[in-house]
Formats: sequence, structure tokens, C-alpha cells
Amino acid sequence: MNSMFRGVIAATLLTLAACGAGSPGEAPLAGARIGGPFALVDQNGKSVTDADFAGRYRIVYFGYTYCPDVCPTDLAKIGAALRTLDKRAPATAAKIVPLFVTIDPARDTPAQLKLYVGNFHPRLIGLTGTPDAIAAVAKAYAVAYMKQPTPSGYLMGHTQVAYLMGPDGKPITSLPLEKDPPAIVAELEHWVR
Ligand code: NI
Repeated sequence: MNSMFRGVIAATLLTLAACGAGSPGEAPLAGARIGGPFALVDQNGKSVTDADFAGRYRIVYFGYTYCPDVCPTDLAKIGAALRTLDKRAPATAAKIVPLFVTIDPARDTPAQLKLYVGNFHPRLIGLTGTPDAIAAVAKAYAVAYMKQPTPSGYLMGHTQVAYLMGPDGKPITSLPLEKDPPAIVAELEHWVR
């Protein structure tokens, strides 16, 4: 995670109003040019496209398994929120597919993703692909990333955002990763119908 990217996305999202109780109201990201077709590979080595998730809500988070801090923290929150929803509103939870898209495909092979995603939620799907396919899906989701060499290898700076996408594949909102899991649960319950 890179503070520059965080700043960019924060500036973008600051202009978006928080949602109120009751009727869902207009989605904060309604009409935003975020999302689109993709062709990737999941943690089992199976080819996956956006069409496989048609009709289901999706949480889309970009990161990488070697991320030392931000990604595991965020994924733990998303996983905790989904586990709460699994218990409290299983029908709602079942409508949501959580996706973790790597921006480090060189290291995040399907096998590496398989070791990783199960730590956070049993339904979390890890997605990787060719460098070009990853670049394309990141661009479609307005996610930036950049290799940052270190003495022992490299880190990846990347945009920190978890999108909630609707059953039509269009963006609804970003989830409040800066808050605790209950706030994420509330947001999911607000939008997922
Ligand atoms: Ni990260």
C-alpha cells in the first residue's frame, strides 16, 4: 500500500455522501466508470470471467499475498464482516461473492493464492492472470499499483479499496475499510437486497 494511492482514492471518495437508514437511496458510485469484463484464473487454476458472477453482488479487493500489513488487515475485516452476515442474514450473505484480485501476478500463482485466501473466508476467491490481464482489470477498476524494490525483493504499492459491485456488475459503493467489521456489515446490509 502506498500513501500516494491512498490519498488519491480518499480524495475521490470524500466527495461521496454517506448513506442513510431506510431506503438504500442512490448508490455513491452509481454511474462511476468502475468495473467491466475480465478473464482471469482462480486459486484452483480455473478460468474465470466476470460473467461467472452475473446476478450476484461482488466485493472486489485488489492486493497481493506478500503484502505485509494492509491487505491482510483489510481481508480480515472483510472476512469477519462476511462471517457475521453468514450467521445473521445467510440469505443476504449468499448473494455476495468476495473477490481478491492480485496486482502481483509474478508471485501470486493460483497455488500461492490458494494458500492465502482460505485464511480470511471460505468463499473468498483469489484471482490472478497474465500481467496484461491484471493490468487491464486494475485499470477497469481504477486501481493503481507500482513495484517498489527493497533490499530483499520488492513490495507493491497499490490502491486500497474494496468495491461493492451489484448483480449487474456496476459499482455501488466502496466499503469502509478504515472502520471495524460491524460498519462493513451495516454497509452490506444496506445495499444487498
Ligand atoms: Ni497491500
